[in-house]
Amino acid sequence: MGWSSKNFHCFLLLVLLLLCRLSSGYDKLSCPTCKKITRNFLKGVEDTSRKNFGGGNTDWEERYLSKYEFSETRLVEIVESLCENSEFECNLMVETHEEYIERWWFTMQKDHPNFFLWFCVDTIKVCCPAGTFGVDCVGCIGGADRPCNGHGSCDGDGTRTGDGSCSCTKEYKGEECLDCAAGYYSEFQNETDSLCAACHPACKMCSGPSNKNCTECVTGWVEAGPDDDEHACVDVDECAAETLPCKQHEYCSNTEGSYSCEACHAACDACTGGGPEECINCTTGYTMEEQKCIDINECSLPDKVCTRENEDCVNTEGSFKCVCTEGYEDQDGACVEIKVPVQTKDSEEQNVVEPEALADVAPHEDL
Ligand SMILES: *[C@@H]1O[C@H](CO)[C@@H](O)[C@H](O)[C@H]1NC(C)=O
Ligand SMILES: *[C@@H]1O[C@H](CO)[C@@H](O)[C@H](O)[C@H]1NC(C)=O
Ligand SMILES: *[C@@H]1O[C@H](CO)[C@@H](O)[C@H](O)[C@H]1NC(C)=O
Repeated sequence: MGWSSKNFHCFLLLVLLLLCRLSSGYDKLSCPTCKKITRNFLKGVEDTSRKNFGGGNTDWEERYLSKYEFSETRLVEIVESLCENSEFECNLMVETHEEYIERWWFTMQKDHPNFFLWFCVDTIKVCCPAGTFGVDCVGCIGGADRPCNGHGSCDGDGTRTGDGSCSCTKEYKGEECLDCAAGYYSEFQNETDSLCAACHPACKMCSGPSNKNCTECVTGWVEAGPDDDEHACVDVDECAAETLPCKQHEYCSNTEGSYSCEACHAACDACTGGGPEECINCTTGYTMEEQKCIDINECSLPDKVCTRENEDCVNTEGSFKCVCTEGYEDQDGACVEIKVPVQTKDSEEQNVVEPEALADVAPHEDL
């Protein structure tokens, strides 16, 4: 029961597939499937020839081999390797056209040595010769030798499907792929050939290779002064604009066709470049001296900044710290003497305490 019902389902599927095939004429998969079959066929031919040439050529072997060469035994071996079990389309095509395969093997291969052309193109008619397409294998635009004039691919090329329309490569456009796409200009063109090259990066459209040949500028570039009769597209200096496009603590850096905003040096509040000598004014904790923002030593200011008792001032880059004097530690906001057991043998013991005292440093970020 299991077997026959499975077979019945397979049969139904087969009928359905055949009906589909008949109603749609040729489908897109047929030619690739057939191509694969003929490829595997040739591989099978090769494999079986290698397999059977082994040792010395005794008389018997030679007689056996010449018989084997065009034998049914060899054909069966080859046909078995044409499709994977799971490849339904492939198996169906082989089963449907087994007779043709046999006919070619036994009677046609001498006169028609190209199995693909004989089987897929001329006999079961699922493929076309390269450069042709459609039910009748019509030549592609530009001819079978140069489909789409060498600048694109022809829809259905090599199959019985498609309408032969061209999909051009990015440089070309038009039905025949002879016109230049936007951003490219024509270096050469006649009825059957053309050569398009890229415009200068400044041009959206152009008639030649330089930025003087632009017919339209790309954004970020503008047409140069009207005194020129050439249409040169030149870079816009975004950084020369009245209102700069960058944020605080940044400076504007112009590039070809664009600009970027870069961070100022930490010493600058506003700047014209990346170094501390390119500050316009200084950030808190720095002062301008000889066109340069340098660190203020808060500890040497006339007004003391660290005001607690037994406390030292330590200058840092852009700021300062107040630290308890050596031998004192921070306890509840005051610097108090560190109580050390009196049995100090040498100064080592005191040194051990030091990092602890430093850990209690209270940083002051603002004055
Ligand atoms: C077009 O140009 C190509 C390449 O230079 C040339 O081979 C071809 O003969 C030309 N065709 C015509 C019709 O002039
Ligand atoms: C491109 O620009 C150059 C320089 O102005 C000019 O001599 C040349 O004729 C232009 N070429 C085209 C194709 O417009
Ligand atoms: C520095 O100059 C910029 C503009 O040049 C201004 O916006 C900013 O407030 C100034 N900063 C200081 C600390 O003066």
